[in-house]
Amino acid sequence: MSKLWGGRFEKGTDEAVEAFTASIGVDARLWEVDIRGSIAHARMLGKVGVLTQEESQTIVAGLQALHEEIRAGRVSFNPRAEDIHSEIERLLTERIGAVAGKLHTARSRNDQVATDTRLYLREGIDVLRTAIRDLQEWLVHSAQQHLHTILPGFTHLQHAQPVSLAHHLMAYFWMLQRDRERLSDCRKRVNQMPLGTAALAGTSFPLDREMVAQELGFEGICENSLDAVSDRDFVVEFLSGVALLMTHLSRLAEELILWSTPEFGFVELDDSVTTGSSIMPQKKNPDVAELIRGRVGRVVGDLTGALVMLKALPLSYNRDLQEDKGFLFDALDTARDGVALMHLMLSRAQWRTGRLRQAVQGDFSNATDLADFLVRKGMPFRRAHEVVGRVVQYCLRSGRTLESLQVDELRQFSDLFDEEAVVAIQPETVLQSRRTRGGTAPEAVQAQIARAQQLLGGDPH
Ligand code: ARG
Repeated sequence: MSKLWGGRFEKGTDEAVEAFTASIGVDARLWEVDIRGSIAHARMLGKVGVLTQEESQTIVAGLQALHEEIRAGRVSFNPRAEDIHSEIERLLTERIGAVAGKLHTARSRNDQVATDTRLYLREGIDVLRTAIRDLQEWLVHSAQQHLHTILPGFTHLQHAQPVSLAHHLMAYFWMLQRDRERLSDCRKRVNQMPLGTAALAGTSFPLDREMVAQELGFEGICENSLDAVSDRDFVVEFLSGVALLMTHLSRLAEELILWSTPEFGFVELDDSVTTGSSIMPQKKNPDVAELIRGRVGRVVGDLTGALVMLKALPLSYNRDLQEDKGFLFDALDTARDGVALMHLMLSRAQWRTGRLRQAVQGDFSNATDLADFLVRKGMPFRRAHEVVGRVVQYCLRSGRTLESLQVDELRQFSDLFDEEAVVAIQPETVLQSRRTRGGTAPEAVQAQIARAQQLLGGDPH
């Protein structure tokens, strides 16, 4: 392969070194943003007079035509090229000749690759945020239908207090909301332009960086050339946001795995999103959920890899930084697929509402409410807790459920109990009663949903 930098070398590069240092296998997908960045750079060079108008126009037209050719699938990149930047320049030279060699004036691959990566990630974030938003909309929509669907709420994976399925689903809405906000915050720092800082120190040519930034849609310009070519904080920030997003998805995936077992039987996953076993004919496995759960490992690995790559790296550009794209693209793809597949799996899931309700029957998850009843009659909570503890013990010994006890049985434990106590501990009553903001009562969840919808409405992505 001819090099962008062959001049000072007497010997050719060893093949093993070429293969070891090449990044085209990873960075080929930057071709589109690379051409876009080059077009903006060439236009600006023409405007400030570093190139003649004619040279600038020839280069821009050549790049536009090349863009079209690649988009139409008529170009295959040389797999032995060093990277996508040198490959695009070579392809341009093939088409427009020596004038292509003027494109790289006042530019280095160091500011070029940082710019490309930011442009690519900016779009990746937008696509990911839209996918998260779609999933959030599904959650809100389903919650609306399950305001009165009762299931056990868990702590320590033990039945704790009844909640509605709507409330449980909305818990994931808020996790995803924070993920989406984190990504949009991270996007601001992604959307700063390194181009124009050249190799590391800036350039002696009179560039108009503002013009380029505007054309490429950057919100700001990197102020220090040394920092600009060596900053990959935006990659780390994105990866940490994605690690948390995938962690959230893994929690939901874990619940679907658990809840689709015969022991729980809370949910039935659709045949189309599950897989079978090669030996056990009866099996229907939640592999999609398991892979979403498992792939958290990949993105946490990507985050760790990027942090370690940056650690103790001296200023400014070092080739270590080339490794960033492997981590970044892996996390982008994994998160995009994870969110989309979670959405698909959920949208086809059947909730076994009868089983959910049955799970609350006789599970003592209304014990707090029996204690609260005594508190309303004036008993200190600690004492009420003690009394109801003994009622529970009585039930466990005699094989009874709390909600089946008659008033006279309850009165053996405290004479503050009356007819209303029996009503107060029916699961429906219990659910209705948690009316504080953020609670599980249908009207509180309805208000929660309204706030969620307001957030979705006020945000185009
Ligand atoms: N492929 C390189 C990367 O991704 C491009 C920059 C190379 N610059 C250099 N001076 N070798 O980081």
